[in-house]
Amino acid sequence: MTSLKHTRYRQFFPSLNGNNQQIAYLDSAASTQVPEQVLSEIEKYYRQGHANVHRASHSFARNATNAFELARKTIAEFIGAKAQNIIFTSGTTQAVNLLADGLAHLVAEGDHIWLSEMEHHSNLVPWQQLAKRNNAELKVIPVLENGDIDLGYFRQHISDKCKIVAVTHVSNSIGAMQPIPELSRIAHQVGAKIVVDGAQAVAHLDIDVNRLGCDYYLFSGHKLYGPTGIGVLYGTEQALEQIKPSVFGGEMISKVSFEQSTWNTLPYRLEAGTPNIIGAIGLASAVQFLNQFPLKERLSVERSLLNYALQKLEQHPQVELVGKPMMRVGIIAFNLRNVHPQDAATLFDQYNVALRCGHHCAMPLSNTLSPRGSIRLSLGIYSEQSDIDQALDAINKIMELFDD
Ligand SMILES: Cc1ncc(COP(=O)(O)O)c(C=O)c1O
Repeated sequence: MTSLKHTRYRQFFPSLNGNNQQIAYLDSAASTQVPEQVLSEIEKYYRQGHANVHRASHSFARNATNAFELARKTIAEFIGAKAQNIIFTSGTTQAVNLLADGLAHLVAEGDHIWLSEMEHHSNLVPWQQLAKRNNAELKVIPVLENGDIDLGYFRQHISDKCKIVAVTHVSNSIGAMQPIPELSRIAHQVGAKIVVDGAQAVAHLDIDVNRLGCDYYLFSGHKLYGPTGIGVLYGTEQALEQIKPSVFGGEMISKVSFEQSTWNTLPYRLEAGTPNIIGAIGLASAVQFLNQFPLKERLSVERSLLNYALQKLEQHPQVELVGKPMMRVGIIAFNLRNVHPQDAATLFDQYNVALRCGHHCAMPLSNTLSPRGSIRLSLGIYSEQSDIDQALDAINKIMELFDD
């Protein structure tokens, strides 16, 4: 038996209290709510004096630079990395694009780029476009019927033509968790670089990039209780050195003349222009918020809740689960018998249950597992058993409407 007694994390999130007390927010995979601590940190920064970073020598600028670089360190430590290995981006999507442009020189005609069938479009389209530009081939690790990737197929078919493997850590559609250490080992055996999309993993797992063994790890602040518009591209030193800058301007240069320019050192070489200073500070504050709670407890509370929701949905006679991966994190996709997911989502909203429906920006996976799309329930640190019960109650009410 699992216990659902724990810290009431919901109390720290103003948007889920007051007038919104009745909302069951089960769409954290799309974006998470922001705790009070982060909101006040953002306000405090602007109230105490804002300036641009790394430039002027006045006190506002010094404070801004210190806060920005401290944010980099806090976020780095959260994933077991060093500050100089963290590049700030606007989110996971920009991080993938930065890699697909910056690593293009590694991919020659006839080479392979491997993805999994469950990739979010953000970790698919940039690689697809790179493959087209360089006359390379996009190869796909298929998913099995239960939604896990076919690791055997990958082992059998990968060759030294492969230059890049880009895989998600956790599927944003069905919550399937990938065996990243094993995928890293396979990629490195053929000399390829491995890029891991951690957008759906970083809020739900104990991330240590060294244990994962990947070359690059990417995530977005707005799925980690931080603000939108900030994200992270982690890379090992050697892997970051291989990225050619593709965005040019201030900050990323060392010397400029009309004839030529030379580049700054890492991480600045890959951060052209004024960075999202408040985004970085806000994200670091979100990490500090999470760090207050024992990691084991936080993760086990979420696991208990996930198991509770899975068990209830599995037992429901009118619910069809989409994908039953062996290892799952934070997300469940399902359909209601004879109800289109779009109709269901509209009705859920009427019962104050916030869920997402559709193909979840992963059309290839949706086409394989559930072509009409699915309803996605996803958890955050503030999710409670009452949210799941509210969703289950809504399911019963919806099914009554469709009962004839
Ligand atoms: C697995 C995955 N990758 C990438 C992204 C894109 O993230 P962003 O829109 O923050 O760039 C998402 C967003 O839903 C995601 O779930």
